[in-house]
Amino acid sequence: MTEIAPEATRILIVDDDAAVRDVITVLLREEGYVCTTVASAEAALDEARKTDYPLVISDVRMPARDGFWLLEQMREASPDTAVIMLTAYGDTEAAVECLRNGAADYLLKPPKVTELIRAIERALGRRRLELARGRYRRSLENRVKEKTAELSRTLHDLESTYSQTLWTLVAALDAREHETSDHSQRVVRYTLAIARRVGLPESALPDVGRGALLHDIGKIGVPDAILLKPGKLTPEEWTEMRKHPQIGFNILKSVDFLQVPAEMVLCHQERFDGGGYPRGLSGEAIPLSARIFAIADCFDAMTSDRPYRKRTSTENARKEILRCAGTQFDPRAADAFLSLSEDELLELSRPSDERPI
Ligand SMILES: [Fe+2]
Repeated sequence: MTEIAPEATRILIVDDDAAVRDVITVLLREEGYVCTTVASAEAALDEARKTDYPLVISDVRMPARDGFWLLEQMREASPDTAVIMLTAYGDTEAAVECLRNGAADYLLKPPKVTELIRAIERALGRRRLELARGRYRRSLENRVKEKTAELSRTLHDLESTYSQTLWTLVAALDAREHETSDHSQRVVRYTLAIARRVGLPESALPDVGRGALLHDIGKIGVPDAILLKPGKLTPEEWTEMRKHPQIGFNILKSVDFLQVPAEMVLCHQERFDGGGYPRGLSGEAIPLSARIFAIADCFDAMTSDRPYRKRTSTENARKEILRCAGTQFDPRAADAFLSLSEDELLELSRPSDERPI
């Protein structure tokens, strides 16, 4: 029974000696291989560029370019092709060199039939295995890529859902105080701009923005009679009002992704000199994000109209922040704020449909 090699594997035979080419061709045809012969390394490379050969059998010593050259070129031009080298008897050094340069195997000339067939089968078997491994690795890599993209889309959706929820919550709060959400947007923008100038990493900014957005969330727990009172508050009413950072913290502290904003909410009414509330913290005991926020909030309050007073100019507000640097405000955060130009502040203050977080 004649056995035909699967898919009639093509083999390219390279040797300057016509007799060697003919002998090998005859042997391999009998085994069912399809053989092409060329007499030089250059011709072999041309042929390999035109047709895909799973296997090349090449002489090492040839008059022009030698087998080493061909081996190197084949690695570039057709890395999946297995190359078996034919070396002269006693040329051990060349044989070792071939293997080191990526040859699948080497055979001594003239090759014995059984050795030749065995070497070819081994080389082709190994090549099939490597190709399968490569396909498997690529399919794994693609799956990892797809899954990573899917995960990042999901995370992005999740973040934007979080963000929408927070903005809705704050809009409800603003509505209660008959405020528009412009104030919240501006304070978040100023806070983020100062935070960037202070040098906080981009990765920290979403938390800082959320803290700024939610700073007065605790006012939910302040009765209408106090929160919406048109006149001055009594000392007792002030005591109630000053509970809002703690109430806000209590609301947020149990939400995993709001741990950092919760701290900022708790500290947003503290002063750098220790004169704030609820804990009277001073200096670096107050989180940097809250020290930054205090400036943003104060600047926005000064440059916005209130029922009981007109807004002040940006220039005057900046002077006031400079005056209070080191007392009410962290001087480093104040410096960062003052490094923002009037134009930049004007740009940040403009209402926009695009939410900063
Ligand atoms: Fe507040």
